[in-house]
Amino acid sequence: MKRGSILVTGGAGYIGSHTAHLLGEQGYEVTVVDNLSRGRRHNVDPQRLRVVDIADTDGLCRIFAERPFEAVIHFAAYISVGESMHVPELYFTNNVSGSLSLLTAMVRSGVRHLVFSSTAAVYGMPAAVPIKEEAPYAPVNVYGESKVMVEKLLHWFDLVHGLRSICLRYFNASGADPEGKLGEEHEPETHLIPLLFQAILTGQPVTIFGEDYATPDGTCIRDYVHVNDLAEAHILALEWLMGGGASDAFNVGNGSGYSVREVVRAVEEVTGKKVPYVVGPRREGDPPKLVADSTKLRRALQWTPRHSDLRDIVSSAWNFEKKRSVQQAS
Ligand code: UFG
Repeated sequence: MKRGSILVTGGAGYIGSHTAHLLGEQGYEVTVVDNLSRGRRHNVDPQRLRVVDIADTDGLCRIFAERPFEAVIHFAAYISVGESMHVPELYFTNNVSGSLSLLTAMVRSGVRHLVFSSTAAVYGMPAAVPIKEEAPYAPVNVYGESKVMVEKLLHWFDLVHGLRSICLRYFNASGADPEGKLGEEHEPETHLIPLLFQAILTGQPVTIFGEDYATPDGTCIRDYVHVNDLAEAHILALEWLMGGGASDAFNVGNGSGYSVREVVRAVEEVTGKKVPYVVGPRREGDPPKLVADSTKLRRALQWTPRHSDLRDIVSSAWNFEKKRSVQQAS
């Protein structure tokens, strides 16, 4: 049974492709919009893919005219914190202007529900951990600021145009679909878990960014959340909006923090191999501890993460990485 048409921007990317896949499994008609500048063509069923930039408002309107779309899930964005501090114009153009173009196309086409891919980076260096949604906006990098700006656009588009939205503020998205077909493939990779695998596979040591933080083992603590649990949160948010629910923002994390050293240990246990590493200086802008309070999401949308165990997350990612490295070698 078909359950309605959903447009997924950035559906060729890491979290977008997992969500598009889950939507398809649950009977939704999915159309993916991606300019493939960072997404991967092989992540999307070719029949579902439209290679369009979200900056192309008219192009988006033409897609919206193909059939009645119930909602949009908006992932398309640049995601590298470091890059955002070198070329802020890229982030404000793509993430903010691009989102404005999408919202304009939605209003013109009468599509009034949006789930937005936001981030814990909107909180910056939070005063209290676990972080609740009421914590103030205090981004410390351009990437986080670009997401705050879109959250603010969404507030006004609701007030003025009645476009309702849910902002999902992800903590550390990680893991891979257990089938092993989809996973994390950023270029260049900056995320910890895939970098630990690369260190094992290449023998080139990974750098631990600082061990002098005020945490039990001196390394930074993060809340790692499985990409399929994130995908599930998007579908729950979508159904909330389509059922008439009001606009809101939710944290998405497991609520348990793991230090970089604990992640290294988990990777060594899962892979059975030593991770070659060196300890380097702190990375600028890294908060010592980011852990989500996701009570609001659990209560309001009945979200229940299924892969909250770190070893489970790491082992799904390793499963994907092994398949990928075999494919690259052949
Ligand atoms: N780390 C290292 N060495 C590396 C890479 C990472 O020690 O080579 C450490 C980082 O310092 C951090 C932890 O591993 O303590 C996780 O780092 P990631 O780069 O994997 O993730 P971040 O926590 O920096 O960022 C993630 C998302 C961002 C988002 C942020 C919100 O990738 O998009 O969470 O909190 F903005």
